[in-house]
Amino acid sequence: MQHRQLGKDGPDVSVIGLGAWPIGGGMGVLEEQASIATVRAAIDSGITLLDTAQAYRTSESTLGRALKDGYRERCFLATKVSRQYAPEEIESAIDNSLKSLGVDYVDLYQIHSWNPAYPIAATMETMARLQEQGKVRFIGVSNFNAAQMQQAYEIVPFHSNQPRYNLFDRAIEGEDLAYCGKMGIGILPHSPLAKGLLTGKYTPDYIFPDDDERSDRPRFQGALFGQYLAVTEQLKGIAGDKGISMVQLAIAWLLRQSEVTCVLVGAKNPDQVKEHLGAAEVQFSEDELNRMDEILQDTPEG
Ligand SMILES: NC(=O)c1ccc[n+]([C@@H]2O[C@H](COP(=O)([O-])OP(=O)(O)OC[C@H]3O[C@@H](n4cnc5c(N)ncnc54)[C@H](OP(=O)(O)O)[C@@H]3O)[C@@H](O)[C@H]2O)c1
Repeated sequence: MQHRQLGKDGPDVSVIGLGAWPIGGGMGVLEEQASIATVRAAIDSGITLLDTAQAYRTSESTLGRALKDGYRERCFLATKVSRQYAPEEIESAIDNSLKSLGVDYVDLYQIHSWNPAYPIAATMETMARLQEQGKVRFIGVSNFNAAQMQQAYEIVPFHSNQPRYNLFDRAIEGEDLAYCGKMGIGILPHSPLAKGLLTGKYTPDYIFPDDDERSDRPRFQGALFGQYLAVTEQLKGIAGDKGISMVQLAIAWLLRQSEVTCVLVGAKNPDQVKEHLGAAEVQFSEDELNRMDEILQDTPEG
């Protein structure tokens, strides 16, 4: 497994991470044993960065059970405070997360999203206090744009931003990516497979079960779903020519950017994790990247 340094002066982490939203049941309820096997397979195969959040339903407690028997010491554990960011809310959120995860500290504590209802100065100062207390080793943010990162960074420097970034969602490629590059803030892309649209395994007639978040997302229904899948079908042609899978193409396309530290990929079983690992070594030629850009011009709006 390859590693990259987190931010300017953080530790090295694996370039492929495990996103733990699916094991919280948000994309359909999973058996706990399958979740534990997935987490342990990821760590056993060299993935170090595991990402969860206060808001990920049962993810933290399931992850906590998976990290027993010596697994916690082998990973770089990231979680997030979600939605409410008053100092006392952050302080109680971290204590709850540590308890659910069954750990004394987390390696990366992230602000899940920008919330204008809470002054960023007080939020960042609280995050720094948790660091002084040893509950948190490094601080990060998530879904912040360049202007928001700048406001936060002026209060307390931090190591990472976790934006949505994949072949279909490229909004960060303007000033946000450049800001991270300039400041040495590591990018941890979330939803790298566009939540399944980029796996190449779905057909337009597929109906997601009610307990799966995708069951009421416009991108996963009707004509729009079909349009996304048609673009993926074209991209699959390039993956096939290279002898890699569509999933590996989607992950490797993100890793070509030096600002990207670790791609957080969700998985539901050890086989999915195994496939992700194959993306770490893939390189693209200029011609392949141009072909992909051409195909992506057909990406629908929405
Ligand atoms: N900060 C934020 O606001 C935010 C938001 C979203 C996610 N995240 C983080 O980013 C992580 C990744 O995003 P995500 O999990 O939502 O979506 P994702 O990584 O884009 O997609 C994950 C889903 O794709 C399918 N999949 C994964 N590997 C596969 C493989 N090898 N072959 C076929 N299908 C495969 C699985 O679902 P099926 O098999 O059911 O299709 C899996 O649950 C999350 O787990 C979370 O840690 C953060």
